[in-house]
Amino acid sequence: MTYKTLLATTALVALSAGGAHAQVIGFSQIGSESGWRAAETTLTRMQAEERGYDLRFSDAQQRQENQIAAIRSFIAQDVDAILLAPVVATGWDAVLQEAAEAEIPVILLDRMVDSSDDLYLTAVGSDLVHEGYVAGEWLVDTVAGEDCRVVELQGTTGSSPAIDRKNGFEQAIADHANVEIVRSQTGDFTRSGGKSVMEGFLQAEGGGADICAVYAHNDDMAVGAIQAIKEAGLNPGTDILVVSIDAVPDIFLAMAAGEANATVELTPNMAGPAFDALEAYWADGTMPPKFIQTESALYTQDDDPQGEYDRRKDLGY
Ligand code: AHR
Repeated sequence: MTYKTLLATTALVALSAGGAHAQVIGFSQIGSESGWRAAETTLTRMQAEERGYDLRFSDAQQRQENQIAAIRSFIAQDVDAILLAPVVATGWDAVLQEAAEAEIPVILLDRMVDSSDDLYLTAVGSDLVHEGYVAGEWLVDTVAGEDCRVVELQGTTGSSPAIDRKNGFEQAIADHANVEIVRSQTGDFTRSGGKSVMEGFLQAEGGGADICAVYAHNDDMAVGAIQAIKEAGLNPGTDILVVSIDAVPDIFLAMAAGEANATVELTPNMAGPAFDALEAYWADGTMPPKFIQTESALYTQDDDPQGEYDRRKDLGY
């Protein structure tokens, strides 16, 4: 039996239940490594509450084995759907197959897996390669032909945003020999990781005078790197350009202070489109597209960073 056939039964069961009970949603979240992640969790809880769902939340503390155990527990509880933000891209086939066999639709949030897309209902996320490309393109345009030695702070090793944001950035600089990545290491998407890896880069690069830019796969690592640059006696934003991804409030504060230069937005509201897709599916079996893409806008110091901070500061980041 195909995933589609299996899940068609689920849709009909949900339909015939006629709202007799609150839909139960299991949410396997990665953890709380970044401000962006905290906002995604808050917005998912809010969306679930607004729609009258019973959300069962599991924090995996960055460990895939905890996520697999949580999904098995959700299956045992016979939930109506599962949201999964997968910490890494590989190793999901068996547990996704188990969910499909239990006729429980799974929706991926913000990160991708390398399993067959038959094993999940849909995925909500941004074009992660494009995000990296936009960051790289911004740097190429900004340095306008000048030599630029870049240090890169990668996200969690093996995660789809770390893989794709690296690829996208490399594509953008590929035809520009003046822009070169000279060091690249994971900071695990955390502020403390970004700071300590940047300290190592600065030390290895003779104090940092020859570093032109830091490209961080998320804003939290950029904020950590900014701290390290300041402690090394340099000026982030001018001596060393700072470009990153997420558009969290703290990066706009840094931009308003002239200490960060550009960020590419990733919306934390992944649950809204996910729940809309689930509701259509429950209503009449409508199959959503396999990928529901969110927007990725670039913000620079010219885009009213203080106003952007004010608009976002109470959104759960
Ligand atoms: O998967 C999205 C990434 O994960 C965000 O860019 C980052 O902040 C988070 O930890």
